[in-house]
Amino acid sequence: MTTGYEFLGLETADGIATVTVRRPDKLNALNEKVLFELCDALFRIQGNPRVQAAIVTGEGDRAFVAGADIADLAKMDVLKAVETSRRGQEVFDLLEGIGKPVIAAINGFALGGGCELALACTLRLAARTAKIGLPEVSLGILPGYGGTQRLARLVGPGRALELILTARKISAEEAFRIGLVNEVCNGQVLARAREVASEILKNGPVAVRLAMEAVQRGLDGSLREGLALERQLFGVAAGTRDMREGLAAFMEKRPAKFEGR
Ligand code: COA
Repeated sequence: MTTGYEFLGLETADGIATVTVRRPDKLNALNEKVLFELCDALFRIQGNPRVQAAIVTGEGDRAFVAGADIADLAKMDVLKAVETSRRGQEVFDLLEGIGKPVIAAINGFALGGGCELALACTLRLAARTAKIGLPEVSLGILPGYGGTQRLARLVGPGRALELILTARKISAEEAFRIGLVNEVCNGQVLARAREVASEILKNGPVAVRLAMEAVQRGLDGSLREGLALERQLFGVAAGTRDMREGLAAFMEKRPAKFEGR
């Protein structure tokens, strides 16, 4: 696919889009243009019915994304900082709410904005050599692309505060132990991300989307509200042809052929 992007690769195969942040000389740090291109790529993925899942990764074997571009941060005043944070949050909100599973294939440093990018993805797989952290306080700032909120929700406030306040960069193994990543890969993390995406794609796409919505939106409110949402979405799933096909296939002892409706 010709995208015209300067800092991003976007390829689609077998219903899976792969977005590669390509700024290896700066360890794939996120400047304004990278964020702009990422936003555009996400809209393309969202609007393309042939794409059912996506993978986000970084170019090369050193970095996933080593954070927001520190040279840009150095030029910020108060208003620019608030706008920078808002812009990053909006792009990562779009990623989180895209309605298709997105897997972060963390192939190296995932620091600051890179860690926050991974946190906005649905699942996170890490290469054994990856290093992950939110080192912002070591620069006199704090995570501003959703990290304080998403990390605390994912691993709990105690572990999130430990990582944020110490600015520590942890290993993939440690990230797995605290639940920050789903899996540590011995081989190629990108190949493993494709395998996991393919595993998801075997399931009913509407059900996958509704389940993601139930978990993600459910976490925004109380347990009661979450359960009410789950009931409603369960009802929505029951109105789909996919549900009839999935149940019939089980009873007829054959693989289901889902149509996504
Ligand atoms: N923003 C801008 N440039 C960055 C960057 C960032 N977040 N992270 C790395 N780079 C650049 C370096 O400035 C360097 O550029 P140069 O060759 O033009 O000097 C290049 O990427 C390679 O990085 P370098 O620091 O030389 O590699 P290293 O192996 O010695 O260290 C890190 C790797 C990741 C430990 C180190 O680059 C680092 O700490 N980066 C910042 C991480 C961070 O604090 N991120 C949060 C930002 S809010």
